[in-house]
Amino acid sequence: MNRPENSDGIPAVYAERRARLAALIQRGVAVVPTAPEQTRNRDSHYPYRYDSYFYYLTGFPEPEAVLVLIAGEQSRSVLFCRDKDAEREIWDGHRYGLEQAREQFRFDESHAISELDAVLPKLLADQPALYCHLGSDARWDERILKCLNAVRAQARAGVAAPAAIYDVRTLIDEMRLLKDAHELGIMRGAARISTDAHRRAMSAVKPGRAEFEIEAELLHEFHRCRAQPAYSSIVAGGANACVLHYVSNDAVLSAGELLLVDAGCELDGYAADITRTYPVSGTFTPAQRDLYQMVFAAQAAAIAAVKPGAAWTAPHDAALRVLAQGLIDFGLCQGSVEKVIEAGDYKRFYMHRTGHWLGLDVHDAGDYKRDGEWRELEAGMVLTVEPGCYVRAGDGVPPHFANTGIRIEDDVLVTESGHEVLTDAAPKSVEAIETLMRG
Ligand code: GLY
Ligand code: MN
Ligand code: MN
Repeated sequence: MNRPENSDGIPAVYAERRARLAALIQRGVAVVPTAPEQTRNRDSHYPYRYDSYFYYLTGFPEPEAVLVLIAGEQSRSVLFCRDKDAEREIWDGHRYGLEQAREQFRFDESHAISELDAVLPKLLADQPALYCHLGSDARWDERILKCLNAVRAQARAGVAAPAAIYDVRTLIDEMRLLKDAHELGIMRGAARISTDAHRRAMSAVKPGRAEFEIEAELLHEFHRCRAQPAYSSIVAGGANACVLHYVSNDAVLSAGELLLVDAGCELDGYAADITRTYPVSGTFTPAQRDLYQMVFAAQAAAIAAVKPGAAWTAPHDAALRVLAQGLIDFGLCQGSVEKVIEAGDYKRFYMHRTGHWLGLDVHDAGDYKRDGEWRELEAGMVLTVEPGCYVRAGDGVPPHFANTGIRIEDDVLVTESGHEVLTDAAPKSVEAIETLMRG
């Protein structure tokens, strides 16, 4: 990966992003905390995951940290973090501490996190505006409002408190939507590991193996590459593939079924999100092949619609037309393509949209509409393209299509000239899948 790093290996991009955010704010103070640790049971924690907004601006991976960015003629960025603690480090491992964190992560100042409540009111004094995020964590909201009230309490001493409070996420969301070269380097890495994992899973599938065994193949490849799952992997055989958020992954796979695998890794905070669907026995039945080719064609049409200036909805609309025609051809919907789309008849078999932004979060930050209109795609945006078709057994469904769930999902970068599919290396055509599975 190509990263401009300082001598300590911390890329300069984080300080550059803080400078860009300060320029957007002009005058005021942004306060961005990282995520708290989460208890799993008693004194065990879930694996720690930092807050995506905080990490985007700092690259700092430890819990108990807050960024305060003071924007003005001379902008300053201040980190509150855990101090060195010889005793705790024996149990939990290395902590950067104030000095090392300030130097390596290029902050102007650092303070102990235990000082936040005392120091933050001083940093907010006489500032016109506070940029923070309220409403996601009641304890954090209370803490910020307490600091604000501590500034207000000094009114008679001539200290002014911020008169306006803005949601800092609105500004950072727009920054996060356009990926920089550093992010794209990591996202290509996440895509490569995830496509390798899908190939590994595909090679391991055969009748009699359990869904969790295939999940283990995915995890093996993720962990081998210092990555982890970006979300709970879906490994869904047969009818399970019609459950959109199936994560139990505990059934045994049978010959004649399709297997839907939706899995992607998180690398250095960035997600890949890939779905492939393939036959457990290695060969599609004619009915499975028909439905698969329909979804494959819908995805190709959707990907072709990804280019700068296209509406966010263009890929979805393109996929929908192909799916509607296919559903009519197979007798699953009746009437014209227009009628099937307008009446929403297709929703019985395709009930989700065709994609979402992708980045630090698997369903990444960024508005889909602007001033009430679907926004246009721009070079640097990354989105998924993931049409599907889910046919449950029931009313009027021919038995050869019943209990078949298919989704094909790739991660697509909008480029100046059109698009680049980041996850092309995972086999997708019927021929490529059957060839790989033959071994
Ligand atoms: N894996 C989550 C999604 O496809 O949106
Ligand atoms: Mn997705
Ligand atoms: Mn997915």
